[in-house]
This record gives sequence, C-alpha cells and structure tokens, in this order.
Amino acid sequence: MNTSATEHGSDHNRLLSSLENVKQRYHAANPESYARWQNARNFMPGGNTRTVLHYDPFPVSIVKGDGTYVHDLDGHRYTDFLGEYSAGLYGHSNEVILDAIREAIAGGMTLGGPNNWESKFAEAVCERFPSIDLVRFTNSGTEANLMALGAARAHTGRDRILVMDGGYHGGVLYFGSRNSPVNAPFDLVFGRFNDIERTLDLIDANRNELAAVLIEPMMGSAGCIAADKEYLTALRAATEKHGIVLIFDEVMTSRSSSGGLQKVLGILPDMTTVGKYLGGGCSFGGFGGRRDIMELFDPTSPKALSHAGTFNNNVMTMAAGYIALTKVFTEDAADQLYARGETLRGNLNAIVKAKGAKVQVTGVGSILGVHPVDHPITAPDSFKDQRLQHRQLLHLEMLMHGFVFAQRGYMSLNLAMTDEDLAGLATAFASVLDMHADCLS
Ligand SMILES: Cc1ncc(COP(=O)(O)O)c(C=O)c1O
Repeated sequence: MNTSATEHGSDHNRLLSSLENVKQRYHAANPESYARWQNARNFMPGGNTRTVLHYDPFPVSIVKGDGTYVHDLDGHRYTDFLGEYSAGLYGHSNEVILDAIREAIAGGMTLGGPNNWESKFAEAVCERFPSIDLVRFTNSGTEANLMALGAARAHTGRDRILVMDGGYHGGVLYFGSRNSPVNAPFDLVFGRFNDIERTLDLIDANRNELAAVLIEPMMGSAGCIAADKEYLTALRAATEKHGIVLIFDEVMTSRSSSGGLQKVLGILPDMTTVGKYLGGGCSFGGFGGRRDIMELFDPTSPKALSHAGTFNNNVMTMAAGYIALTKVFTEDAADQLYARGETLRGNLNAIVKAKGAKVQVTGVGSILGVHPVDHPITAPDSFKDQRLQHRQLLHLEMLMHGFVFAQRGYMSLNLAMTDEDLAGLATAFASVLDMHADCLS
C-alpha cells in the first residue's frame, strides 16, 4: 500500500469512529424516541409513514412545537431549521393564523360547497404570482404537479414530459434515480439541470412529442441547487418556440421573494405549481397559469376537464392560507425573509472558509443546503452519493447541539426565528466544524 492509500485508510477509519461515537451519544440521549420507533415498526413499514422523515440510526419523535422550536419525546428542545421542508414558514404557533383557523372551523367543517375563503385566497394567490392568471387548489404539491402535467397534455395534445435528472416534484414524481416503480407512468425524457446544450438538444429532438417541461427554478430536495438565469431563459425561449408548456414547480421556491423565484429571475412560465407554506401550515397544493390553459377546467364549458378532490377547498386550509398570505407573509415580509436567508448562507460559508472545511452551503433566500463537498454544485450529479457519512456526522452532531435540519443537509428559515436563533446556528455549526476538523477539512 502506498503512503496516500494508507493516509486515506486512516482518514476513513477516523470518520467511522467519529460517526460511531456520535451515534452512541445520540442513542443514549434518546431512549424514548428509540422505543417509540421500535414499537411503530410493528405497525408501519420501518416505523414510518413518510419516507423523508426517517434517518439513520432512528429519528427523534417530535411531540410539540412552539414558535421556532420543536420538542422531542426525551425532553430536548431544538431550534427548527428543518421548517417542515419549507412548509413551516410561519413557525409552529402563529396566533394570527391560529385565529383564522379557529374562526373558519367555528363556522362548520366539510361544508360540501364553494365557500368565501377559497375565492379570496384565489384572488390573493393570483395577485401575488406574476404567471398565475387563474388558480385551482389541491391537497398537496404532488397533486398540483399531476394536474399541471395533465393540463399541459390536454392543451398540447402531446404526451411526453421533460423533467430533470434528480428532480423531485412529489411522491409519484421523484426522479432521484431517474424513474421509480412507484412513479406515475408518464412518458419521460431526462434533462440535466443547468446544462443548456444537453437540455436544448433534448427539447429539439422531442419538439413534436413534448407537452411540458417541468422544472424547479431551484432544485430543493435534490440539494438546494439554484438554476442559472441563462439556463432558464434558454428553456423559456425553446419551449415558447415549440409550443411546449413550461411549468415552474415553485412548491418550495414561491417563498423566495414576494412573487416567487419567477419574479426574482424575471422569467414567466406558462404554469406554476405551489404548495407547502402557502396553505398556512395546513395540507395544500395549487396549480395555476395562463388563462387559456386553466380555462380547460371551467365546468361551465361543455368540454371541461374534471379536477376533483374532496378537500380541495377545505375551510381550514383556505382560511389559514388566505390570512397567512395577506396578513403575515406580506410582500415586505417575504423580501425580508429572503434577505435574512442570504445573509445566513453568507455567514455559514464565511465560517467554512475561515476554518478551511471541505463543506459548502448552497441555496437561494430562506432555503439552504449544507454539503460536505467543496467543488462547485450545479446539478444533482455534482455530489450524488459522495461523502454520505460526513453528511450523517454533521447532521447528528448538529442535533446533539440542539439544531434540527434534514440529514441530507436541507434547511429552511421560518418567520418566528430571531437574530439570536440564526446566530446560534452559526455558532453551533462553527463548533461542529472544529470538533470534527479531522473529518470535515
Ligand atoms: C419542489 C417540490 N414539488 C412538489 C413537492 C410535493 O409536495 P407535497 O409533499 O405537498 O406533495 C415537493 C415536496 O417536497 C417539492 O419540494
């Protein structure tokens, strides 16, 4: 064995031993969460009903949330930087929103007819997002994307969809390993994020078959990877030229500025899907866009497409979403949160640089991705399957320091966070980088 192979071997052993050490401390600190998880395994596969909430060695059980904090079964309090994968934008106990929900349900639930909240909410959403002339509500972002794709297929009379390799648009629209057996069976082609030449070639080769291009203006689940403006501009021009419906999935990114990332970039898609926080903390999704496409769903037209969903206009979501968007996440609040996220990301990257760590923080505005690699990240394949144990080490150690975010490195800010919460994260991050300098540098 040569010297560098020996060094590499001892680096890896050091990493494994640090990881084992933090796992042991984590396990010892969380006996009640462990017991709950073991019991849940008797009734749910892997003790889990939402895959993304499982992490190794086992997840802590969250019993309560208040403000920006969550509390686990073993009595620990965490500052919540997971933010329910961006749906928790309002924190856990915003009184304005809770009052709206109380008022709505006091008027009766499951009413089985159009209600006042839904039209006011629809008006607020259309006013807010530049590409949305008309909107319809669903119960999840997944459904919103399914409906947008259906609308694009009906509008164009074509079937094929271009998605990004590694993209995520919902439980049945997950392209992490290209196509999965549980995915909806669309006729797909896979573009490469931020790769203009490859994607434009693909559009050109499939121009007569493509109904839609579905893309996140910042890939969220795939690692908080921002799209280059130039790339999206090229996609906009090519889709327009060939009559292909461009759909921006802004389920996560619609929080980025007062009109989503489309407003920041100045690029208008034909359709936009939304979800997550926009329902005020309740189950939510929505799809909207150009009037001529959305009018396909007008039930007064004899050829109307059907769009069903028992809870599409449930009063809890409609009231919470409407009040949250108009009274809490105002345009100013949205711009301020975006700026706070940018500052935090800058601070974390400055810490990384000062310590010489092999780590970087990506993202846009209030959504951040922590990655234990130092080369440029422009597409999911920039780091796929790399340094997974380093990721785990960072995540568990930050949990032990009282900060929760996703094991894959995903973080999002919420409106209840104070400057002290943000500074606390930066301090803990710096101390974890010091603690594990031998593995993370
Ligand atoms: C970009 C994007 N689209 C769609 C979805 C699916 O939303 P939901 O979980 O509400 O179905 C998600 C969820 O993480 C998402 O990040």
